[in-house]
Amino acid sequence: MILDLSNMVNTDRQHYLQHAIAPRPVCFASTVDNDGNINLSPFSFFNLFSINPPIVIFSPSRRVRDNTTKHTLQNLQEVPEVVINIVDYDMIHQTSLASCEYPKGVNEFIKAGFTQEPATLIRPPMVKESKVKMECKVIEIKPLGNEAGAGNLVICEIMRMHIDEAILDERKKIEQQKLHHIARLGGDWYCVVNEKNLFMVEKPNTQLGIGVDSLPAHIRNSKILSGNDLGKLANQQSIPDIDPAFHDDTLKNIFQYYSINPDEMEKELHSYAKELLDKNLVNEAWQVLLNF
Ligand SMILES: Cc1cc2nc3c(=O)[nH]c(=O)nc-3n(C[C@H](O)[C@H](O)[C@H](O)COP(=O)(O)O)c2cc1C
Repeated sequence: MILDLSNMVNTDRQHYLQHAIAPRPVCFASTVDNDGNINLSPFSFFNLFSINPPIVIFSPSRRVRDNTTKHTLQNLQEVPEVVINIVDYDMIHQTSLASCEYPKGVNEFIKAGFTQEPATLIRPPMVKESKVKMECKVIEIKPLGNEAGAGNLVICEIMRMHIDEAILDERKKIEQQKLHHIARLGGDWYCVVNEKNLFMVEKPNTQLGIGVDSLPAHIRNSKILSGNDLGKLANQQSIPDIDPAFHDDTLKNIFQYYSINPDEMEKELHSYAKELLDKNLVNEAWQVLLNF
């Protein structure tokens, strides 16, 4: 299916964009107006865009329903300060509750049952229950249109972070497994980061991978190895040499049973290499594949 976004009703546009561009982290924004009335609302059009200076951007859109602007945006136009609270699994239902369209002046800390904790540099309070909070000054608000659904980029510089000691390791670094972020997808879907679904991919920029195009043809064109498998194999500085010290019983058996049939042997070697790659045993997988 090919979609042209210009000829689409907003609800469909929202459907395709929000299901496709996901998961999105959630910024729980605490703001105040000129009179000090507090607002707290979640925004998943949010991300980190710069480390130095430390810049995050989020976007309170014009309401699709009636093209009105959100209280968060109105507050930021009056007082350009925001606390961005990171939302984790422990907070998700209260955070969702805070997204209700309460009338202006209603404090969603109270509605959603969160605790206000004074910030140290700015006027809006922090959400005590959040494990990471960032005190930010707003450096620019860039409207992206005037029609219903148009976003407003709120470009924020983080001035101070507050991090719960409980998610830090002994070096005072954030332990990823301990921060159970939630993220928004399409419609009512969310996902959570936890130990069951976290995995690591080694950064490739410590070395220059040879690239999939440099893999031997029988590996590159394998009917068994997947794109992920090829990606792992090709992230080596050079094609390894056969290691005469590499002994492996499964490999020995494959040779014993399939050496009279090269097609079958290739299939068996590739299947075994795939098993090793699934366990991230890349060197061993290479040794198996080099034997063909
Ligand atoms: C998890 C979550 C993410 C949301 N993300 C956005 C967003 O990125 N932009 C937006 O305009 N509204 C978003 N909303 C809806 C706003 O939170 C909602 O309109 C809220 O009432 C705005 O409050 P305000 O008028 O007090 O600022 C989101 C709601 C939820 C529950």
